Amino acid sequence: MKQNTQTLRVVIVGHVDHGKSTLIGRLLHDTDSLPDGKMEEIEASCKARGVPFEWSFVLDAFQAERDQAVTIDTTQIRFQSEMRDCVIIDAPGHREFLKNMISGAAEADAAILVVDAAEGVQEQTRRHAYLLKMLGIEQIAVVINKIDKTNYSSENFDAVSKDVKDYLASIGLHASFVVPISAREGDMIARGSDKMDWYTGRNLIGVLDSFDPKAADMAAPLRFAVQDVYRFEEKRILVGRIETGSLKVGDTLFFSPTNEQAKVTSIESWPESEAPQEVRAGESVGVTLDQKIFVERGHIGSHTQNLPMLSNVFKAGLFWLSNKALSVGNSYTARIGTMVTKVTVQSIERVIDTESLASEEAAQVERNRMCEVTLRARQMIPIDPYMENARMGRVVLYDKDSLVGGGMISMQGCQDQRVSLTPKSENIFSVNYLVTQKMRQERYGHSGAVFWFTGLSGAGKSTLAMAVEKDLFERGYNTYVLDGDNVRHGLNSDLGFSAEDRTENIRRVGEVAALQADSGLVVLTAFISPFQVDRDRARGAAPERFHEIYIKADLETCESRDIKGLYKKARAGQIKDFTGIDSPYEAPDNPDLVVDTQNHDIETCVQQIVSYIEDHVSAGKGKEDGNIKPEKILSVSG
Ligand code: ADX
Repeated sequence: MKQNTQTLRVVIVGHVDHGKSTLIGRLLHDTDSLPDGKMEEIEASCKARGVPFEWSFVLDAFQAERDQAVTIDTTQIRFQSEMRDCVIIDAPGHREFLKNMISGAAEADAAILVVDAAEGVQEQTRRHAYLLKMLGIEQIAVVINKIDKTNYSSENFDAVSKDVKDYLASIGLHASFVVPISAREGDMIARGSDKMDWYTGRNLIGVLDSFDPKAADMAAPLRFAVQDVYRFEEKRILVGRIETGSLKVGDTLFFSPTNEQAKVTSIESWPESEAPQEVRAGESVGVTLDQKIFVERGHIGSHTQNLPMLSNVFKAGLFWLSNKALSVGNSYTARIGTMVTKVTVQSIERVIDTESLASEEAAQVERNRMCEVTLRARQMIPIDPYMENARMGRVVLYDKDSLVGGGMISMQGCQDQRVSLTPKSENIFSVNYLVTQKMRQERYGHSGAVFWFTGLSGAGKSTLAMAVEKDLFERGYNTYVLDGDNVRHGLNSDLGFSAEDRTENIRRVGEVAALQADSGLVVLTAFISPFQVDRDRARGAAPERFHEIYIKADLETCESRDIKGLYKKARAGQIKDFTGIDSPYEAPDNPDLVVDTQNHDIETCVQQIVSYIEDHVSAGKGKEDGNIKPEKILSVSG
């Protein structure tokens, strides 16, 4: 019986030929973890083939076996240390290995970085160390292998360890231990060595036993990642995984991004009599709540203190795996915890050379490079930066179904929008109007609503909005256009065209439009409003009467119109962050109306919009009454 029941998951990395396979073979043997007769079998086969025995054959034999046994988890090789079960995470090829590590399919608690005593630090030593950094693996044992080849020289060991430590320190990693070993001879693996009296530290197994599985996960605040919601008889059970921290019955669970909360009434288990009162990091659980709040896959439960951040914009340090380069404007499917969402690359901050650690500006990121990028999602996502929570702070990117990259999340330079979404003022109340919506509607002959025009500059938003306004006005509607260029002269004259300023521009206009619609106006807005999240927020300000109208024309068409001459300037580099040129435009996911100005003339488009509006703001009793035109009502009362 092991003292510690938690399994330690170890990943072994290092430069090619520095001895990873030999080390794995040796670890299995020296810890008595090989099946009975396996060694004899391998030795006999070597003899039969007339080749000398090598430790890496042990691993080969393992691999051959698991390739046949499909049911065995292909990435795990188990051995036992003095204290506990250990699993070596491995994959048949370098690429699969990277994919498994990046996707989190294989998560490691600790790493062994193998460095050849004679060759010292090499390209892949650095690259793999950088990868460990990106994966958030902080418990690292460096082994200086093939020490026998240097005659067990302590001077050589000191020099090589210093090189490794210096490199690790330069990327912000710390090797807890540096152990001189010979995997081939068995020195300092599971035993000591009689050839290195100058080394008084632990052997490799001793080092692994000093590591702590999931130490960091337990120390971090609670994150319950919801995978699904089941109905079971009368119960509604939220199923998910405690990624970090712990959860007790009676705790209040606060969900992001919905900001709703409820108390945990039970933690489910089968049989029911064994239902636990508390669950901890790493456990998959089902919980029931005391209230029926809206929760779905991807939502994160936390305690009411130490909430995750909320943002649709975040940075990522990525390892790029795809043959197709990553570039600005590309969209991918991102997975963060159980949340799956579409993201667009907003900017590439830098591409990093893991050899020299030099970073360069680049328009593209090629395969096997590391980079820092800013990603923009179409919805608010609960986010924990990787530096604060290594398990939650990871993103994996997919192009269609194939994994193309992944790495760690940072919020440096990005704003936690939970703060800006939460009103700052306290002690505020809602005052009821004495003039009701119905009274306004009866007086004006139509209801108020927001018709939100979005599209590229030059798509025709302002032109159409002004023409539609005139048409409606002449027929008795109370209507008004909020136009980007106009509003930016006054209310929003303090805002520019950075992504943050555009967000604030749209937030303010969304609120103003909602107030105007509330007052009974038919509000038309003409703003590029390039981001879906911002438009969704504007909808949130007037949820029952918001209509998203996509004024559609492709970039080529808009650029050829170039009424204000701005595209030309943007192409010449005289305007920065110009939508469609060096700042993205997200076409609506699900617009209420699409107006194609590329293929239809202005008059046709105006009529299409007017008739849509008339269908949606006509007096009183819903759509059937759509034919009661305001002028008729006005003429009756007048
Ligand atoms: S939004 O992106 O924040 O919605 P908005 O609609 O208010 O933009 O303003 C767009 C108008 O500002 C354009 O029609 C154009 O005349 C002008 N403009 C000036 N600089 C830029 C820029 N960098 N990107 C887009 N429009 C710009």
